[in-house]
Amino acid sequence: MNFTEAKIKSEKLRKIIEQHNHSYYVDANPVISDFEYDLLVKELEKIEKEFPELQTADSPTQRTGNDINNEFVQVKHKYPMLSLGNTYSESDLVDFDRRIKKITGDDFEYVCELKFDGISISLTYKNGMLTQAVTRGDGEKGDEVTANIRTIRNIPLKIYGDYPEEFEIRGEIFMPHASFERLNKEREEAGEMPFANPRNATAGTIKLQNSSQVAKRGLDCFLYYLLGENLPHSNHYDNLQEAKKWGFPISQNIQKCQTIRQVIDYINLWDTERKKLPYDTDGVVIKVNNIEQQEELGLTAKSPRWAIAYKFKAEQATTKLLSIDFQVGRTGAITPVANLQPVLLAGTTVKRASLHNQEQINLLDIRTGDSVIVEKGGEIIPKIVGVNKSHRTDESKEFEYITHCPECGTKLEREESEAKHFCPNENGCHPQIIGKIEHFISRKAMAIDGLGAETIELLYKNHLIANVADLYDLTKEQLLPLERIGEKSAENIIKSIEDSKNVEFQRVLFAIGIRFVGETTAKKIVEKLHSIDEIMAANYETLLQIDEIGERIAQSIIKYFANQKNQNIVQRLRNAGLQMEAKETLIKISDKFKGMNFVVSGTFASYSRDALKQLIEQHGGKNVSAISASTTYLVAGEKSGQAKIEKANKLKVKIIDENKFNELINE
Ligand code: IVH
Repeated sequence: MNFTEAKIKSEKLRKIIEQHNHSYYVDANPVISDFEYDLLVKELEKIEKEFPELQTADSPTQRTGNDINNEFVQVKHKYPMLSLGNTYSESDLVDFDRRIKKITGDDFEYVCELKFDGISISLTYKNGMLTQAVTRGDGEKGDEVTANIRTIRNIPLKIYGDYPEEFEIRGEIFMPHASFERLNKEREEAGEMPFANPRNATAGTIKLQNSSQVAKRGLDCFLYYLLGENLPHSNHYDNLQEAKKWGFPISQNIQKCQTIRQVIDYINLWDTERKKLPYDTDGVVIKVNNIEQQEELGLTAKSPRWAIAYKFKAEQATTKLLSIDFQVGRTGAITPVANLQPVLLAGTTVKRASLHNQEQINLLDIRTGDSVIVEKGGEIIPKIVGVNKSHRTDESKEFEYITHCPECGTKLEREESEAKHFCPNENGCHPQIIGKIEHFISRKAMAIDGLGAETIELLYKNHLIANVADLYDLTKEQLLPLERIGEKSAENIIKSIEDSKNVEFQRVLFAIGIRFVGETTAKKIVEKLHSIDEIMAANYETLLQIDEIGERIAQSIIKYFANQKNQNIVQRLRNAGLQMEAKETLIKISDKFKGMNFVVSGTFASYSRDALKQLIEQHGGKNVSAISASTTYLVAGEKSGQAKIEKANKLKVKIIDENKFNELINE
């Protein structure tokens, strides 16, 4: 490869990797397997090594992803949270072993552990109490998610025995298979998108704003790394066994190994045994046991030299690609789906697999009739990851991507920044109509009960509804003749539709289904623009000034309201009596409490507790339920909890009364 070729190739790779980072970290919806991702990064690393002048400061080889969610307070890690070098090959392990021996000599041992597939977390304990839980974030600082983590049952809030006064313990939060299946079933019933895999479900759960919701999701945890000044032992293994005695969940399947051969035996054993575990693992982590030797080995820029992750390959099978179908989603997004010759993969027969988008098909050069490699990682839907080109026969046909919607025949569109094609006929295309209504009635939107996917389909087929505004014209008499709808359920549906007229405006804005306007975005818009009229009148520049609204969202809002059909629907919803403006209390007043966390306790003379909490939010602050080191103020009223006051004193959190709170607001 000459310099010019390397330059073009590295730029292209960087762009692709960044897109995958976005899918993984921001959308929590990975498009390719970890293995393929690692191959891309390794390819880029190789080019940058050969042509160092091509390396850019912002190259994905120079940083790992970031899971910071702006709604949480960010906290700097006392010890950075490093990632691990990883490998898929035994020969890399032998090299790793050689490098270690070169530095420490022959006298050392390894500890092998399973690599749990979840979200890493760092817990701080002071005087035996859990005081803080922080996500990895960018490794330097992460989100403080203590209130959510406290809901995970096997994480001790208080520990017992002879523990150091202060220490950190790190581990992985994950969602066991049983919780994952239950959650996805509930989501599908509520018309919400199911999570692609337990890891994504975990990431989504940890970032929920409401910790009582987290508690219901059945998360679990294993801890695997103790850090601090006065640890009980001079080796990792004994420290973990000690931590177990204090009450921490430590895996049973940790093993000390004297040689790299024993490490490889452990890996081979667990590559099959792991399938019996009730949670996902994606590899084995190999660590040098002795802490002094760990220190001697030290760190590279990104990861310790004393540990490495061996990643299991996802299970694969080879089969024939028979044909390609196209599915149209709620938003009009087109997904190509492969029909396969049925093949057994990881215990189930696979007949269909996702092909993601046109670019992916072109990149892999997939043709119908090809012999393809199907992979099942943590995802429910298997995917095609490659083609056996050497097996290609005359039967293979280059594939023409569709130009028109398979459901309604409308010409498809594709924006430059988007990977997928879209059907623009949002109010006239069957799956989009049904999808929009399902979204509208879902729990976080209008929360209309009694209308499942099947009932909506039934109402649509009977010409009773064709859009969300039609719901408000439904009568009990129209519902009664339909199959499966009795007197009682008809009454419930009508009552629930009636009740939805009280749903607050920000949820109505979310419910009408403007592309890219999710729950949080709707909330941000309503903080600035307080009614549907203001939003409809807002121009592009006005929209861009709103927090977290970029060009893509602004354009989508403008486009939505420019459509006459959407204008009619909004008008009909308004006539039906839905909330089309924010209640006074929701409106943002100032940013004076931005970045501050409040705990409110007791009763107050001039406010209800809820009113006081609302004021905090209106001034940009955040209400949290438990006091931790990152709490800014405890607002203590009459009969405020004694335990809270003691804890605030202990952690040096400022305690203020109602008068002082008023002063702060009026300052
Ligand atoms: S040790 C400095 N042990 O894998 C060593 N990590 O890139 C810190 N993981 O971010 C990590 N199981 O989230 C370690 N038994 C285990 C693990 C484990 C899962 C995750 C962790 C880390 C990533 C490695």
